[in-house]
Amino acid sequence: MKTIKIHLLFCIFILGFNSCNQNKEPKTETTSISQPEMVLDLLDLQKNNKLGKDTLVTVINDPVYHKTKKYQAVNAVNIVKNEVDLSKIDIKNTIIIFECIDGYKPEMPLELFWKAKPYLAFKDVDAPKGSNWERVIKNGNEMNADPFYLVYTSAEALKNQEYKWPYNVVKFQLVPKNINNALGPKNDEMARKGFVLYQKYCITCHAINGIGGEMGPELNYPKNVTEYWKENELVDYIVNPASFRHKVKMPTLGITKQQSEEIVDYLKYMSERKKSD
Ligand code: HEC
Repeated sequence: MKTIKIHLLFCIFILGFNSCNQNKEPKTETTSISQPEMVLDLLDLQKNNKLGKDTLVTVINDPVYHKTKKYQAVNAVNIVKNEVDLSKIDIKNTIIIFECIDGYKPEMPLELFWKAKPYLAFKDVDAPKGSNWERVIKNGNEMNADPFYLVYTSAEALKNQEYKWPYNVVKFQLVPKNINNALGPKNDEMARKGFVLYQKYCITCHAINGIGGEMGPELNYPKNVTEYWKENELVDYIVNPASFRHKVKMPTLGITKQQSEEIVDYLKYMSERKKSD
């Protein structure tokens, strides 16, 4: 009897511990690139009634539903205009990233977004009772567009690949184009691969030459991490930080050893291109 009780307690402990750990994960969402005010959390804005006035929009040949659709929506440009100090950004040199629930992050030039008359749809007029959206069938899987779907009413938006139609959108993020100019390798294919991964997995928390997130340490100057870590250990650390440090704050990102090697190649490449100040 006693041992059963102990086992039970132990299980509860383990379960409790795990759920705590899971709760920690979403915290990483609050990190951003250099200027936190450039991230707009759309659900937060909705909760605080800051999305602006509703309108009804009709989208002919909707590219996600493959038919004509009607949505309740708000003007997406106004959301950005209301929340961001436009005097602080250079519209021509900024891209807008649409962050989706599954981590998918399509982007478009902010200048185009401005001109495109985008709408942020929050409800599908044809949705079945009790739901906000008609189902989307994608590769045989049923899904829906919740909580937001970015749409346009112009014919140009269906033809031009630069227009993005993300659904499950939760955040808008504004990022200077110069990240690419400042940190992107030009002629080195290997480093280029690592740079793409770095932007996908690391830049939200780590800066290089001062550009990038601040949740984790700068990785390039004054000392580049490849200058004080052994290369093979650095590769392993990036794959699984918790195998090096107890209670490590960097999450395991699910990247492979090969991807980690490519990122380390990129970090080495940047060690010869330090910020000069
Ligand atoms: C969610 C934020 C986050 C992400 C994403 C992230 N890191 Fe980290 N990283 C951290 C934090 C926080 C630390 C400090 C580690 C600690 O808790 O000891 C760290 C530490 C590191 C260190 C050790 C630095 C040192 O001087 O010892 C390296 C190297 C590193 N990260 C590389 C990466 C790479 C490469 C990526 C992308 C594949 C990445 N990190 C993604 C948050 C993050």
